Amino acid sequence: MAKSKKLIVGNWKMNPLTGSEAKKTFSAIREVASKLKKTKTVICPPFIYLENLSKLRSSGISPGAQDVFWELEGAYTGEISPKMLQKLGVEYVIVGHSERRAMGETNEMANRKVKTCIKYGLTPILCVGERVRDEEANYLNFIRQEIKESLAGITKENIKKVVIAYEPVWAIGKNALRQAKAEECLEMSIFIKKNIADIFGAKSAEKVSILYGGSINADNAKNFLAGGGVNGLLVGRESLDAEKFGKILKDAEKN
Ligand code: PGA
Repeated sequence: MAKSKKLIVGNWKMNPLTGSEAKKTFSAIREVASKLKKTKTVICPPFIYLENLSKLRSSGISPGAQDVFWELEGAYTGEISPKMLQKLGVEYVIVGHSERRAMGETNEMANRKVKTCIKYGLTPILCVGERVRDEEANYLNFIRQEIKESLAGITKENIKKVVIAYEPVWAIGKNALRQAKAEECLEMSIFIKKNIADIFGAKSAEKVSILYGGSINADNAKNFLAGGGVNGLLVGRESLDAEKFGKILKDAEKN
């Protein structure tokens, strides 16, 4: 995807409860998304809906995956193969989301998934983000470590195929401590780019897209798009409401 386009990703997590609701919401979002020229929309539903939603894709909007496994086939109960995603025409895959990390996913596992995505032509959206912000700024080391370990062994050539989503855990979900500020997002976007540049060189770092995620809603999206130093957003709860998510898409098109 050209970096000049905004990338807005909806992460539906374990919602909605029925396939018909999933289709209805996807179709309503498509009404808005398919008309946009400068914005690409990706909706990541539960795997069980992916095949049906992939039939509803149109220009500017397609379904993505919330996770992937690093093996192609075999005795891996509950896992999803990159080949299965490829067959459905999936382009984007969320990797290392904080909710998966809370269930035991490590940087090493995220790293294997990033490499798998690249190998099979899928674009990984690698999530990084601190759980807390401490006064000694240890959270910066935490993010640096996440980047270093999750991207270990990726070549300079391939780093531009990776999208990084900055998602501070304290700002995610309905129990969030508070919303992040656009300035905090801007600082972190610069910090992430600096770390990518340290590892892969400044030229390669320029080509990496950065998204922000954590309590994005129809009211605050434009602040992050205009002042957050990011190329797009990763939206949880608000992406299940077609009307509000549609407003976010329109704001992305304007920014
Ligand atoms: P939220 O989730 O928008 O509901 O805070 C964001 C995410 O977890 O990606």
